[in-house]
Amino acid sequence: MQIKAIRPDFVAEITEIDLRLPLSDAQVAEIDKVMDHFAVVVFPAQALNDDQEFAFANRLGPLEETRAVVDVHKQRLAYNQMNDISNLDVDGSILALDDRRRMFNLGNLLWHSDSSFKATPAKYSMLHARIIPPEDGNTEFADMRAAWDRLPEKTKHQIETLVCDHSLIYSRAQLGFDAFTEQELINYTPVPQRLVRRHPGSHRKSIYLASHIGTVHGMPRPEAMVLIRDLIEHATAREFVYSHKWKQFDLVMWDNRCTMHRARPYDDKNHKRDMRRMTLTDCAPTLEQPA
Ligand SMILES: [Fe+2]
Repeated sequence: MQIKAIRPDFVAEITEIDLRLPLSDAQVAEIDKVMDHFAVVVFPAQALNDDQEFAFANRLGPLEETRAVVDVHKQRLAYNQMNDISNLDVDGSILALDDRRRMFNLGNLLWHSDSSFKATPAKYSMLHARIIPPEDGNTEFADMRAAWDRLPEKTKHQIETLVCDHSLIYSRAQLGFDAFTEQELINYTPVPQRLVRRHPGSHRKSIYLASHIGTVHGMPRPEAMVLIRDLIEHATAREFVYSHKWKQFDLVMWDNRCTMHRARPYDDKNHKRDMRRMTLTDCAPTLEQPA
C-alpha cells in the first residue's frame, strides 16, 4: 500500500490496497501503525458493499454491537453494527423534514467523538460514501493531540485530571431536541470519561472533548460548561482542522480517542446522501485505562 500525508502528522491517504479483499496480518498492522501516527486515514475509490465493509471493520478489531439512534426499529440496513449516516427512510426515500430521526441526526453537525456517551467508547470509526450530494456536506476533523500540545501549561495543569459526564441527551439539548422516549432516556444515561487521555499507540496526550459533555465532576455546571466551550473553541481552531470533501466510494477512518469530527450541512431536502459507518469499540471505559 502507498501512504501519503495529506496533513502532516494528522491525515494520510492510503492507495494501492483493495479493501474488498481479506487483509493480511501485515496489512492490519501497517494500517494500525498509520492510524497511530496520523489519526485520520482516507482510502479513496473503494467500491465496497455492506458485506465487504463489515468484513474490513471486523478484521481491524472488535465492533460496536449497538446503534445509538432514535426510532431504532426503523432501520434500512441489514447489519446491526452498521450505522446509517444518511437522510433516507426505510424505503429509500428522503426523510420527511419533521422526521424525528432527521432532527436527531442534525446533532452530527456538532463537534463530537463517536460514542463518548457509551461506558466503553469508540476506537476507530470508518465512514463509507455510497451516494453523495452534488455539493457541500464535508466532514471536518480536529486533532485533539495538537490541541493539547498547544494549550497553555496553566490550562493543562487545570484540566489534566478532570472527569466529564457525556450523554446524547446533552448534545441534543444544545439544538433544542428533547423528544426522547422514556426508554431512550434510560439508554442515554450519562457516563463518565477522562478529559485528558494518553493514546496507547503514539503515547501522545489529547483532550477528550465532545458536545456530548454536560457536566464536569466537582464543578458547578455553568462553570464546567464555560470551560468545555472554551476548550472546544480552542481545539477546533482552523490550524487543528482538516475538512474532507467527499468523493463517491471514499472510506474515511478516524481514531475517536484523539480526534473530534462534525458533519457540515448540505441540501438534505432535495439530495440523497447515503453513508454507512462501522465502528470499533475501545478496550475499556477511559477511567479504567492508564492516565
Ligand atoms: Fe460522528
